[in-house]
Amino acid sequence: MSGLQWRRLRYSLYSPFYDVLVGFDRVRRRSVELASPRPGERILIPGAGPGRDLEFLPGGVEVVTGDLAGGMIRQLRRRGGRVEERTGSTIQVMEMDAQATGLADASFDVVLLHLVAAVVADGRACLAESTRVLRPGGRLLVFDKFAPEDRPLSLLRRVANPVSRLLFTSLDRRLGDLVEGLPLTLECREAAALGGFFELALFRRRG
Ligand SMILES: C[S@@+](CC[C@H](N)C(=O)[O-])C[C@H]1O[C@@H](n2cnc3c(N)ncnc32)[C@H](O)[C@@H]1O
Repeated sequence: MSGLQWRRLRYSLYSPFYDVLVGFDRVRRRSVELASPRPGERILIPGAGPGRDLEFLPGGVEVVTGDLAGGMIRQLRRRGGRVEERTGSTIQVMEMDAQATGLADASFDVVLLHLVAAVVADGRACLAESTRVLRPGGRLLVFDKFAPEDRPLSLLRRVANPVSRLLFTSLDRRLGDLVEGLPLTLECREAAALGGFFELALFRRRG
């Protein structure tokens, strides 16, 4: 089974419980606040899972969102329909690989990458893809668990990573490595949850 197939299967199996177990509503609200999307702007949410982020967006925006796992996509469609009715936004849901979306260059104002960069097989490819689809001046929000930039990986991370990576998420990725060489300017990076284990960063796409 390929890595992509394993992620698809795994997250379809998790999908009935995911929404109950994974909240982070305060961080999602903060992320949207930092992105400050305006009516009419286009927002991409790759690897959206059951789509909890949609609940925090303002009305009148145009959202394209997707996931790899069928179970997640079904929930995303249901939630997308409800949010569309309530807010007047348009929400397009598709099967999507966050590392290669097939979407046009520079076609989004905002990309929300929440709990995806450390989950996909190739975090650098995922960040490069999010950057490619952003217009110059567009905002990229990255929320995830990253290893500290300035010191070696802790023993705990090294020991736990093989199992964690297989079942949930990588613990050895550094945000600085993922964005190195990309035309992004870091505007803000802050502790998001669990005493800074999870972080939230705002980048702006350079022209
Ligand atoms: C930890 S969940 C995060 C879900 C959601 N973004 C959130 O904030 O709750 C990771 C999600 O990424 C999806 N995923 C994994 N690899 C992917 C890929 N290559 N492309 C798109 N989605 C992917 C999984 O199916 C899962 O729904």
